[in-house]
Amino acid sequence: MKNFYERLVRPLLFSLDAETAHHVTMRLLGRASRFDPALRVLRSLQPPSKPKTLFGLNFPNPIGLAAGLDKNGIALPAWAALGFGFIEIGTVTAKAQPGNPKRRIFRLPEQQALINRLGFNNEGADVIANRLAALHESGRWPAVPVGINIGKSKATPLEQATDDYLYSFRLLRDFANYITLNVSSPNTPGLRELQEPEKLSDLLSAIGKEAGTVRKPLIVKISPDLAAAELKDLLAVCEENGLSGIIATNTTLDHASIPPRLDQAGGLSGAPLRNKSTTLVREIAARSTIPVIASGGIFDAESAREKFQAGAQLLQLYTGLIYRGPQLLREIVDSL
Ligand SMILES: Cc1cc2nc3c(=O)[nH]c(=O)nc-3n(C[C@H](O)[C@H](O)[C@H](O)COP(=O)(O)O)c2cc1C
Repeated sequence: MKNFYERLVRPLLFSLDAETAHHVTMRLLGRASRFDPALRVLRSLQPPSKPKTLFGLNFPNPIGLAAGLDKNGIALPAWAALGFGFIEIGTVTAKAQPGNPKRRIFRLPEQQALINRLGFNNEGADVIANRLAALHESGRWPAVPVGINIGKSKATPLEQATDDYLYSFRLLRDFANYITLNVSSPNTPGLRELQEPEKLSDLLSAIGKEAGTVRKPLIVKISPDLAAAELKDLLAVCEENGLSGIIATNTTLDHASIPPRLDQAGGLSGAPLRNKSTTLVREIAARSTIPVIASGGIFDAESAREKFQAGAQLLQLYTGLIYRGPQLLREIVDSL
């Protein structure tokens, strides 16, 4: 049976272009984040507490918001009120940037999927750091762990990627309970090359040196399109550098399941990504002791269970939320 969101809210949102629907939703959640009565209404949807401790952090439940939905960190109190066990904002880049030309998000309802080629549209590390500082001062900072996902600015050449990440890292680390290095978006040319052992090693050791006395857990978000040998090398580099966790996975460039008439350039997410990302979670859990946060095609309690059984410690939702609404969170947490 369809839930309230699927019956009433989704048809309204899906009558709009995907990016417009996203803006409308984010504006509403941003406003709700500053208005206590609205937060109280959102709290009525909250799932029960299913606490979990990882990276020395306490999560009220293991289901988080994936990066990309709240790129600019405008609705943290609303996500927490809805009951997310943790919130990952970003991807934030050192320089503000508009992203790729529109249209750049496409719904594929039959496939329960999205294709996006946004290209890290965001307000940049300075503006976002100021926004987070203001939220802190307002006393509305959420009580759940907040991760900040950082990536490379498009205008920065790949050879200078480390400095670009360092810039955002320095500005944002104090606000974050963990930092995610995004080296796997398919929509910034060359970014995925940072998963290669030598480049990744340079990036991780530079950030590691910078980390200072108050060390924040450092996490790398990886692509589902890595070959077995590439994954093996990547895991070795992550272990050598004492990485805290791995997010598996970002969107895929494998569009084999998409009929050519519906296909678009960009990263594919949602149901068609489910098996691929579960396979990667299983391989990492088998080969390494680094904790895995699973992301990719989680649409219901069953697909969530599959990720935990594959070895994931925490999960993150994106496309499932677009299709199933906040009730999905409750459905999954209730089933744990
Ligand atoms: C429209 C859209 C924008 C995204 N933007 C980002 C991003 O900025 N940074 C990032 O690390 N992942 C981003 N992602 C990837 C998601 O965080 C998630 O890892 C991926 O979509 C797989 O999960 P899903 O199948 O539940 O959507 C984006 C995904 C979508 C659909």
